Amino acid sequence: MDILVVGSGAREHALLWKLKQSPRVGKLYAAPGNGGTNLLAENVPIAVMEFEKLAAFAKEKGIGLTVPGPDDAFVGGIVDVFQAHGLRVWGPSKEAAQVEGSKAFSKQLMQDAQIPTAKFQVFTDPSSALAYVRTHSAPIVVKASGLALGKGVYVCRTTEEAEQAIQEIMVDRTHKSAGDEVVIEEYLEGPEISVHALTDGSTHILFPSSQDHKAALDGDQGKNTGGMGTIAPVPGVASDVMAGIGNQVVTPTFETLKKRGVQFRGLLFPGLMMTADGPKVLEYNARFGDPETQVYMRLLKTDLLDLLEASTDGTLDAIRDSVEWHRGFAANIVIASGGYPDAYPTGLPISGIAEAEQDEHVVVFQAGTRMDNGQLVTAGGRVLGVSAIGGTLKQALDRAYTAVEKIHFEGMHFRRDIGAKSLL
Ligand code: AMP
Ligand code: GLY
Repeated sequence: MDILVVGSGAREHALLWKLKQSPRVGKLYAAPGNGGTNLLAENVPIAVMEFEKLAAFAKEKGIGLTVPGPDDAFVGGIVDVFQAHGLRVWGPSKEAAQVEGSKAFSKQLMQDAQIPTAKFQVFTDPSSALAYVRTHSAPIVVKASGLALGKGVYVCRTTEEAEQAIQEIMVDRTHKSAGDEVVIEEYLEGPEISVHALTDGSTHILFPSSQDHKAALDGDQGKNTGGMGTIAPVPGVASDVMAGIGNQVVTPTFETLKKRGVQFRGLLFPGLMMTADGPKVLEYNARFGDPETQVYMRLLKTDLLDLLEASTDGTLDAIRDSVEWHRGFAANIVIASGGYPDAYPTGLPISGIAEAEQDEHVVVFQAGTRMDNGQLVTAGGRVLGVSAIGGTLKQALDRAYTAVEKIHFEGMHFRRDIGAKSLL
């Protein structure tokens, strides 16, 4: 079966890497892909949001399954467009992807389903939002409801910061229509974990726990990023905790959506805060996480195509008990461009990937890269994901960091403390 993966990040590189191992997979295509995906797949120069062009390409090539990666593709309705063309596509419909596309929608859903989450209120005009933050104590969190390139969440330490956030989102309209609605919520504290539940609309499979590190700098300092590194599974998260999250978060989410006539197929990825009062949902994503996917693909033993097809076709029940994961741990260190998440240069030559991959436990996934006259160069903020597996978390991390040291491009930066808290 020939497969089209839509996106250009390390998540998509990791999905392709895993799909390539399936004996049932034929030719792989990546649209638009990056400097690494074209080692496994043919890069197709069609952008993620050009749904009609992508569908025409899938039809022309007789693609058996299209697998989109990014949030804006699902929220924009890529699945609906492909289905309207009679094409087989994995993932949630536009309606189901609202759980990620609208925080106002998802918070309401959590409230209706009695899913533990931060106390909140939704606002559409700045004066009532301002009145609210002035009568509720800081710290407080202000969020643009829609998709805002990961920049719509303001964790405010003071009331003044919250007023400033409301000004930016609702008055200056920094995030445009993503700020039409604003969610203001209680500040939560605790370690964060990522949960991935693959579903076909009736059955679901829970992946192991994983943990992203969102802040740019060591010690969780600096700005929020798309994610600077991941580990899986998370040592502190016992299997009964995961089972509890399955029962108290994942199942009620799907059931409540169903009651509203919405069938969710694909991947539900709740981000949780492990608070002193138990796990609470920070947000839902309706897709694979990036960089969570990079560690999951290293640990998954089962054929990814089997899983994605079963999720698409409604046959997950038949394989749910046979899904296997490698024992041990995986770690992924993101190497970013100097300056990221703010402005950064591109076009800088990258060296050392082959040396890094000399350790058989290491795989380097590429994100913001492209080939420029036969030389791999930087082309984005998050440039590479250096992943490794090991029998212990420490071993996985040591291997990943040893590999990172072999890689070079000007100004590169990475966090040196990925997974460090779990080693204490
Ligand atoms: P989100 O996109 O909603 O996951 O938010 C991005 C990041 O902001 C999260 O990973 C948390 O680190 C932080 N965050 C979001 N909501 C809260 C909250 N209620 N309390 C504290 N931190 C939060
Ligand atoms: N790693 C967080 C995300 O994919 O949203």
